[in-house]
Amino acid sequence: MTAKNSNLPASIVIFGGNGDLAWRKLFPAFYHLYINNHLPEDFLIIGVHHAAMKESEYKNKLFEGLKEFSRSGKPSKNDWTKFAGHIRYFQGDFTQPEMYGGLNQLLKENDKLLKQRGVRLFFYAVAPRFIEDISTGLHKNELAVEKTMDRIVVEKPFGEDLKTASELNVMLSRYFSEQQIYRIDHYLGKEPVQNILTFRFANIVFEALWNHNYIENVQITVAENMGIEGRGGFYDQAGALRDMVQNHLLQLLCVIAMEPPISFNAEEIRNKKADVLKAIRRYNDKEVKEHVVRGQYGEGKINGENQPAYRDEEKVKQKSLTETFVAGRFFIDNWRWQGVPFYLRTGKALHSSTSVIAVEFKKIPHLFLPKSANVSPQPNRLIISIQPRMEITLLFQAKVPGMQLQVCPVEMDFTYAENYVQGIPEAYETLLSDALKGDATLFMRADQVEEAWAVVTPILKAWEKDKSVKFPDYEPGSWGPSSAQKIVEKDGFEWILLPEENTLKHKAKKS
Ligand code: BG6
Repeated sequence: MTAKNSNLPASIVIFGGNGDLAWRKLFPAFYHLYINNHLPEDFLIIGVHHAAMKESEYKNKLFEGLKEFSRSGKPSKNDWTKFAGHIRYFQGDFTQPEMYGGLNQLLKENDKLLKQRGVRLFFYAVAPRFIEDISTGLHKNELAVEKTMDRIVVEKPFGEDLKTASELNVMLSRYFSEQQIYRIDHYLGKEPVQNILTFRFANIVFEALWNHNYIENVQITVAENMGIEGRGGFYDQAGALRDMVQNHLLQLLCVIAMEPPISFNAEEIRNKKADVLKAIRRYNDKEVKEHVVRGQYGEGKINGENQPAYRDEEKVKQKSLTETFVAGRFFIDNWRWQGVPFYLRTGKALHSSTSVIAVEFKKIPHLFLPKSANVSPQPNRLIISIQPRMEITLLFQAKVPGMQLQVCPVEMDFTYAENYVQGIPEAYETLLSDALKGDATLFMRADQVEEAWAVVTPILKAWEKDKSVKFPDYEPGSWGPSSAQKIVEKDGFEWILLPEENTLKHKAKKS
């Protein structure tokens, strides 16, 4: 990725500096960037939060967060002390205009100390209702006026439908230029997701097959085996379609379906992704019924642990119709993908936490094997596992050794665990480092976000009108409601999960 001003000093301001995101993800990510020498020599991280708190108390809390969430375990005392020297706590209420004057002063003092005006990164780790106040405060106090050096990073959810997302874009564009706005979709920072572009476009073998002539269907599953984990207040307003499909799943679909970019330039790559989103078929109410299903978990057990019904979760309405599961069949109406179904599914309280993209190829046109071989060969499948395992597997047919002719699927594997000894950076490490460098390749542009909402909003609208759903309709620990099976079965397919579900290795292990 192109480093534009990575060597300049950086002032990083985290609004919501004492929140969950900062604690669990942002500080552990900055810490790893620091110990791996990916931050500029001079940098300051300012955590902004409304409560009065001693700086030492704040840092202690961050240290506890690092112990719990750092990918490299408890930080060494030496590393932590040096890193903590770059952190400041700033008490301030971001709805109060006075706060920005104080922040301005702190940033200026820092510039003075370093004898130069550095890069400024303002991270909005806050609820969406604060975005406008913060943006106005930054604008009025001229905190982010250097277009090439000052950036704002906005977390999801970015709007709640097409209209609100467009309004948000308009509001932000009043205060900042598009090149300053970094809209995060953390799935794009995950290593195996970034690798999909390399896999597709740095190899010759796949591209020739990567179209409707050879691919039968594509499946994207992002399953989670926990419930909503105390986030009822947010989730009951959002639901799985807004929370996961509008962003993460559609972005995965984009990297699988986009045309080859001509260069590794942020705009070029984002243009190609936006083209995919524009080509996704928009559904009317009748088509929504036919192609998209929703579900909600009831009470049950996951791995032996009790899981309350969604409607019994804290801050969830007793008769809530919010979906905790979505599965849908989507089509990309362009030359490459005409007629190829893209099945997407995601949900909470499912069988296991796993994110997998499966590309199923067409059946062979003619079977040369004798009837005695008794085979109905499975189609080739390419399975890209994003998490928890990180691997790419190609399933193909092979002859089982022996006197009799028998054929069985086997797998060809690339696994991160076997190939790389170094730790794999967390998504936020990559994204924060890119934002500091001014590289927006992995961030969402205004039009991408709106196109994604344009796909999802008709579904939301159709569901709002249709109150006939009977929730709850799936058990925790299952793969969702039976309607989700029908989505693929109707077309003669099955949901594909991990490679070993149908390979020789699995059969050997089982027997
Ligand atoms: C977030 C959603 O964007 O992604 C959460 O709001 C979800 O509901 C999370 O749990 C999943 O992210 P990951 O990286 O744990 O797969």
